[in-house]
Amino acid sequence: AGDRIALTPTMGWNSWNCFGHEVSADKVKRAADALIKSGMVNHGWNYINIDDSWQFNRDGKDPSFKGKMRDENGYILTNSKFPDMKNLSGYIHANGLKMGIYSSPGPWTCGGCAGSYSYEKQDAESYANWGVDYLKYDWCSYGGVIDGLPDNDPNKVPSLAFQGGGDPDKGIKPFRLMGNMLKQQPRDIVYNLCQYGMGDVWKWGDETNAQSWRTTNDITDTWASVKNIALAQDKAASYAKPGNWNDPDMLVVGVVGWGNPHQSRLKPDEQYLHISLWSIFSAPLLIGCDLEKLDDFTLNLLTNDEVIAVNQDALGKQGVCLHTIGELRIYVKELEDGGKAVAFANFGREILKMPYKDFKKLGISGTQSVRDIWRQKNIAEINTDKESLSLDIPAHGVAYYKFISPK
Ligand code: GLA
Repeated sequence: AGDRIALTPTMGWNSWNCFGHEVSADKVKRAADALIKSGMVNHGWNYINIDDSWQFNRDGKDPSFKGKMRDENGYILTNSKFPDMKNLSGYIHANGLKMGIYSSPGPWTCGGCAGSYSYEKQDAESYANWGVDYLKYDWCSYGGVIDGLPDNDPNKVPSLAFQGGGDPDKGIKPFRLMGNMLKQQPRDIVYNLCQYGMGDVWKWGDETNAQSWRTTNDITDTWASVKNIALAQDKAASYAKPGNWNDPDMLVVGVVGWGNPHQSRLKPDEQYLHISLWSIFSAPLLIGCDLEKLDDFTLNLLTNDEVIAVNQDALGKQGVCLHTIGELRIYVKELEDGGKAVAFANFGREILKMPYKDFKKLGISGTQSVRDIWRQKNIAEINTDKESLSLDIPAHGVAYYKFISPK
């Protein structure tokens, strides 16, 4: 499946972390405007993804809700905040951007809105008809389907277990089904599976026609969350390739927190580490911050072309940790031009100053020019067989370098 679209990781914005259930067509348009005005669009950011809450919610509170989630033919209705999806995608496309949407294979989304269960065909048709370019398909209540809970019992908490009599195929089935429906549409729709890595999704995601899949749990804007998620990515790394990406979840920078907007609680050095790792992981880069409140620091973090170039490298390899020195983890990603991106990621609480010489462990030898990716300048030319490189890395920080043989 991964031979046609999403040949490099998706880059864009998603509405959930800053707007949650308060998302609206108007806010989505303003996010699109901000992506352009800020200049982010010129650095590759191009998806505007609507997350949960464009559909009716089972709480029935929407003023236009008449007790029906769908029309008589099973086509899904949008809530009063999204009066015209075609118009919205038209606005987004006219700005050179793409539009994403969100649903669940279960009867309900995670936020209690109508999901796609048993209406997959109609939903795929609606998306194509509306001009949708991306779908995030979120497990949530599907566990309840496997467990045989009544479809619409709001008092039962759906099971998140990837089970059903120990048959993992039951958890793959709904993703395959929607993948097939999307494939039949006369439009390319990037397909993202959100099921938190259950059943080693990286091993079968491609089979469902998906281009990316969440490998781990939801991220939050704390160091502990970023660290735990980062440490869990290596197991899936060998499965990444053009059109098949492991998704460690969204970038937690800028103003986030639906209902409680605040600057990311990550310290600046932690943010450099976070972005460097998502870059070297070839992760889909989706930001969840309020684009109308972008500060200069965040904007600079997100528009460094050399950091983005490593993420978007056409070879499509995912960087992995090749060795550690205490809490220093050294990640390497092979690049199309024969160079290697190397992230010296200091997960420890102490500043690290040391000469580094274990280049053999990174598959690096001979004379190399060393470029600081964040600063976009060459910092050394060394014979890695004999010489060392002096590292000076802040606590919870990173040195992000590219090694390449000089021509
Ligand atoms: C889950 C997902 C979030 C968001 C919400 C919407 O929690 O992990 O990213 O999509 O559902 O309800």
